[in-house]
Amino acid sequence: MNLLGPERAGRQAAVRVAAVGDIHLGEDCAGLLRPAFETLPDCADLLLLAGDLTRHGYAAEAQVVAGEVASLGVPVVAVLGNHDHHADEPDEVTRVLRDAGVQVLEGESTVLPVAGHKVGVAGTKGFCGGFVGRSAGEFGEPEMKAFVRTTRRSAERLARALAELAGHGCAVRIALTHFSPVPDTLAGEPLEIYPFLGSYLLAEAIDAQGADLAVHGHAHLGTEHGMTAGGVRVRNVAQPVIDHAFALYRLPLDGHRETTAPTTPVTAPARYGTR
Ligand SMILES: [Fe+2]
Ligand SMILES: [Fe+2]
Repeated sequence: MNLLGPERAGRQAAVRVAAVGDIHLGEDCAGLLRPAFETLPDCADLLLLAGDLTRHGYAAEAQVVAGEVASLGVPVVAVLGNHDHHADEPDEVTRVLRDAGVQVLEGESTVLPVAGHKVGVAGTKGFCGGFVGRSAGEFGEPEMKAFVRTTRRSAERLARALAELAGHGCAVRIALTHFSPVPDTLAGEPLEIYPFLGSYLLAEAIDAQGADLAVHGHAHLGTEHGMTAGGVRVRNVAQPVIDHAFALYRLPLDGHRETTAPTTPVTAPARYGTR
């Protein structure tokens, strides 16, 4: 008989996921989040960054992000957001983050060893297009087709990345995007801009391949909790939504529901108008 129980026997009963997006750090933000992030080894097994890590996508801003998350003692996995593309140097932003030890995913997956278990994360930035019944179609002008095709290809990359994880025996699989896969977590945003906040194609990819949790950002005025049509829990971790340095989700490995835990309030809440 194991009298210690699963946690103390070395294999945790749950995976503890810290997540935040839309931190929008500028060159004047060095050290803003570092004190909170340094508490992560005490409360989390990994940190997910759901894009919009910089204000305008400059490498100098990415250096500030790198300083906040380097050598934290927990693995850090990120996707970029639209702001991280604005300066047209996403490859340089990615390089800076990777040099700091961050795993930056775009249509890729990673498997992390967490206390005797495997945790799989599949990531892509995603894109716009809207939700079922109110979505853009791949029809008409070349520009319109290119717009919708961008989303479709991103969703296809996410599906492939999730499928890659299937053969790894992961105890937990997480889909990480910047744009939202569902409208639930946009509640609070103006209805008129929903088509620019996400796409149902991302949710279809998640439901087709399966995941235990989907995490996104981008919708600053949205809502934290949502769900795909297939029953996958979705969490909007945009920092203005969670109002903390990070959200913390405890994913039990026995199939029970995820629970949340109190986290550190952000020192100076980011209030950024543009998504
Ligand atoms: Fe965004
Ligand atoms: Fe944002």
